[in-house]
Amino acid sequence: MADLPYRDFAMVDLRNRGKGEGKTQIGNNNWTGASSSECVKTAPLGTFIPALSSQLWSIMFWAVVLLSLISTSAALKPEWMPGDYPMTEAGAERFVSDYNSTAEEVFYFSTEASWNYNTNLTDHNSQLQVAASLEEQAFTEAWGQKAKATFSDALMDTFTNPDLKKIISKINVLGAANLPTTEREQYNTILSQMDSIYSKAQVCLPSEECWSLEPELTDIMATSRSYKKLLYAWEGWHNASGVPLRPSTLSL
Ligand SMILES: *[C@@H]1O[C@H](CO)[C@@H](O)[C@H](O)[C@H]1NC(C)=O
Ligand SMILES: *[C@@H]1O[C@H](CO)[C@@H](O)[C@H](O)[C@H]1NC(C)=O
Repeated sequence: MADLPYRDFAMVDLRNRGKGEGKTQIGNNNWTGASSSECVKTAPLGTFIPALSSQLWSIMFWAVVLLSLISTSAALKPEWMPGDYPMTEAGAERFVSDYNSTAEEVFYFSTEASWNYNTNLTDHNSQLQVAASLEEQAFTEAWGQKAKATFSDALMDTFTNPDLKKIISKINVLGAANLPTTEREQYNTILSQMDSIYSKAQVCLPSEECWSLEPELTDIMATSRSYKKLLYAWEGWHNASGVPLRPSTLSL
C-alpha cells in the first residue's frame, strides 16, 4: 500500500514517453530549450532589430574573438610534437620511447580535465575538457602521421624486435583524430553534453523529492521489490536521461 502514490505518476510518464514532457526533470538544466526558443519566436521582429545596439555588436565582436582563441588552442603544444627519426630500428626504438613519455603527459592532462568536469559540471570545465580532448586528438594525429611517414610496413618487417611493429601499428590508428578539426570539436562537445545529461538527470517525485542516479536510483534498482516503484524509477530515468541523450547519440 505504501507504494500506491507511484502508480499515477508512472502512468503519466508512460503516456508522455519520448516527448520529454513527463514528470521528470533534469536538475536545473532546461534541456528542452523550449523557454528560450519561445522567447525568440514571440518577440516581434520590429522590437528586436533596433535593439541591436552598439553594445550588442561589441559583445558579438568579442564572442568571435574568443571563439577564434578557443580554436587556436586546439593546436598541439610544441613540446608535445614529434621530432624527426631515422628510418631504422634504432630510430623506431627512440620514437616509441619518446611517444611513451609524451603520451603520459598528454593523457594525464586530458584525464585530469575530464575528472574536473565530471566532478564539477560547469560550462567552464566543459570548455576545458573539450579543449583538452582536442589537444589529445592533435597529439594522436601528429604522432600517428609521423609513424606512418617514417616506418613503412616493409621496414618494420625487418626489425628484430617484434614488439616495435605492434606498438607502432597501434600508434598509427587515429580514431577520432581522423575527423577534420571542426567535426572533432563537435564530437568532443557532444560527448561532454552527454556526460552532463547523464550526470545531472534526476527522477523527481511530485513531493519535490528527487532521485539521482547515485545513490537513490541505483539503490532502488538493486533493492526495491515494488513493481510500481521500479517502473517509476525506470520510466523516469528513461525520460530524464535517455530521451535527451537520443539526439546526441544519433549525431555521433
Ligand atoms: C622491444 O621494444 C620494446 C619497445 O621499445 C622494448 O620495451 C623491449 O624491451 C624491446 N625488446 C627487446 C628484446 O629489446
Ligand atoms: C568548480 O569549477 C569552477 C570553475 O568552473 C570553480 O570556480 C569552482 O571553484 C569549482 N568548484 C569546486 C567545488 O571545485
